[in-house]
Amino acid sequence: MKNFISVNDVQNIDALVQKALAYKANPYKDKTLGLNKRIGCLYLNPSMRTRLSTQIAAQNLGMEAIVFNVGQEGWALEFEDGVIMNGHTVEHVKDAAPVLGKYFDVLGIRTFPSLKDRNDDYSELHLQQFIKYAGIPVISLESATLHPLQSLTDIITITEHLSLMELPATPETKMNNGRPKVVLTWAPHIKPLPQCVANSFAQWINAWGKADFVITNPEGYELDEQFTRGATITNKQDEALKNADFVYVKNWSSYKQYGNILNNDMSWMITKEKLKSSNNAKVMHCLPVRRNVEIDDDVLNGSTSIITEEASNRIWAAQAVLSEILNEMA
Ligand code: CP
Repeated sequence: MKNFISVNDVQNIDALVQKALAYKANPYKDKTLGLNKRIGCLYLNPSMRTRLSTQIAAQNLGMEAIVFNVGQEGWALEFEDGVIMNGHTVEHVKDAAPVLGKYFDVLGIRTFPSLKDRNDDYSELHLQQFIKYAGIPVISLESATLHPLQSLTDIITITEHLSLMELPATPETKMNNGRPKVVLTWAPHIKPLPQCVANSFAQWINAWGKADFVITNPEGYELDEQFTRGATITNKQDEALKNADFVYVKNWSSYKQYGNILNNDMSWMITKEKLKSSNNAKVMHCLPVRRNVEIDDDVLNGSTSIITEEASNRIWAAQAVLSEILNEMA
């Protein structure tokens, strides 16, 4: 693995999941793999889970992790080519990234979309500029359109639960030939949020190919087809939730009317009542979650919520990816 930007950088998802689970069982088994190697983690936007789990993962492999909050502490970066830099940006990525390439062995970048210009955001300009100019492996810590470390974590978490669940593979059961029903549902939010977590989850679940995958959202919130192709898509949340084994809850702003909130229909919030038709579904969310807006307290406090476990798996996802990259460099 040279870079980790999307599922397309992964040869075998299940093998990577097993690698992550092996680190979960024995976090220090490769504690010298990254000795004398350094990862720079650049945050152009806030983070708690990604920041801390990636640092811990690097340390477990013997790497040094240095975090730089570019958005708050660094010079404002310019990403467009050929601009006259007489505005608020101070340094071009063409000049900054090669320096980072000399300081570090691996670079992690978190950027968010502007949610103003779809073409610009979906070209992943920021991430691509770092890849082009840093000259070292780049890991996405969430980009304008995708969040691959989160999605790998989500599949690790689903895989763990599948091994604990009894999944009789008969048509009479709620399971469809032993495949779990995984539902990604839009939920309300007070702010326009990126599509990246939802895009990425769809991309990974489709590539994984081991679930009956349904996406449900209000009309107008359809995601980019390049990520959702293969999933069943419906505007009927109640239908989607029937017999679901995993319900992944997330808000996103409109892709079609780019970056807009079209409606904030609170009837889409996930409640215990709604989940009654599910197969005692495990409830997932990448966090942070707006309680009683996206998911209600009853669900989040209840036994079917696996959000903490999911977030804790971020360490093993990051460790598996770093390990792949370090092995490639060796
Ligand atoms: N899920 C996630 O990426 O969390 P943070 O924004 O806290 O990193």
